[in-house]
Amino acid sequence: MNVLVIGATGDVGSEAAKAAVAKGHTVAALVRPSSNTNKLGDARQHIRLIEGDILEPLSLERAIANNDAIMISIRLTPGEMKKNRTYRDVEQHGVENIVAAATKASVKKLVFVSAAGVGPTCVSDMYQAKYAAEEAIRKSGIDHTIFRPSGMFKDFDFFHIPTVLKLGATNRWPYGPIDIHMNPLSHLDLATCMVLALDNPRAAFLTLEIGGPDCITQGELLNMIARIAGIQATYTEGVSKEQLIAMVRANPQQGFFTAEQLEDFIVDKMIDHKPVYELFGIPFQTVKAYLQETVPRIKAALNHHPQQFDKTPA
Ligand SMILES: NC(=O)c1ccc[n+]([C@@H]2O[C@H](COP(=O)([O-])OP(=O)(O)OC[C@H]3O[C@@H](n4cnc5c(N)ncnc54)[C@H](OP(=O)(O)O)[C@@H]3O)[C@@H](O)[C@H]2O)c1
Repeated sequence: MNVLVIGATGDVGSEAAKAAVAKGHTVAALVRPSSNTNKLGDARQHIRLIEGDILEPLSLERAIANNDAIMISIRLTPGEMKKNRTYRDVEQHGVENIVAAATKASVKKLVFVSAAGVGPTCVSDMYQAKYAAEEAIRKSGIDHTIFRPSGMFKDFDFFHIPTVLKLGATNRWPYGPIDIHMNPLSHLDLATCMVLALDNPRAAFLTLEIGGPDCITQGELLNMIARIAGIQATYTEGVSKEQLIAMVRANPQQGFFTAEQLEDFIVDKMIDHKPVYELFGIPFQTVKAYLQETVPRIKAALNHHPQQFDKTPA
């Protein structure tokens, strides 16, 4: 299959592009002049790079021509924010532009990365844009698989793990509730499923919540990190969603996220992994396996280059 990857320089998109190459697809990637293609690694030599921007429809038409399928894994990056682009510009209108060009080019399959919890009643700019993008894809009539992934392991590297290491022996997590559930997922496994969805008829016209094999609370995750790091911490106290949102409203400049985004993200969510496993049948990485591999690495990095984690809270 001729597959175009949009967002191929990002964490998820680069893995999807690599997995598509490994599966024998003919892969092209839409990149900007400013894009850094390092994450594509050795697969880079097998991928045709096409310059463009999802906010420039003519460049999209050029890139999409002659492709059977498109995998889309974009987001509003800090670079986009510096250009004063909003979630609506990039994550909604950008995807609407892709859908329009895909329709014109008679593309047969769209695979899109959204997020768990996205839906019509969301209140944040981020999730409303993702939902509008999903709707544009669903209404296009083109066969599609929309993935709504839970939080991904990769975010533990810059937030949960260094923060637990910095907090040390404590029982209190000051950054949110400890009793909400999540099904963390490897972005490599998500990428594999994206490629499998390209030609799996059971994934046709599907919007699918996808999480990893473990359903754990945030407190259980933090305790696992502490145990593997050899820290005497047991998290028994957190900050309620309401308290956290009130804190962000009082000091909006200090947080990573807006109050509305926290409203959408912080939900007690248990994704049933069984249908996902039955659909794709791959061995998904567990939280424990990921942490055993990653916590020692982050601990060493924090000891040697603490400034690398300066933006981590605590
Ligand atoms: N992290 C999580 O736990 C999590 C959970 C659920 C869902 N998600 C969703 O998963 C998706 C992928 O996330 P990620 O972490 O892989 O993102 P990422 O690493 O930041 O990659 C974003 C990609 O979007 C591209 N992009 C942005 N604006 C563009 C534009 N105007 N034209 C063309 N390309 C553009 C970037 O290209 P450049 O390199 O050129 O900037 C980059 O390749 C996002 O939608 C995210 O919200 C993430």
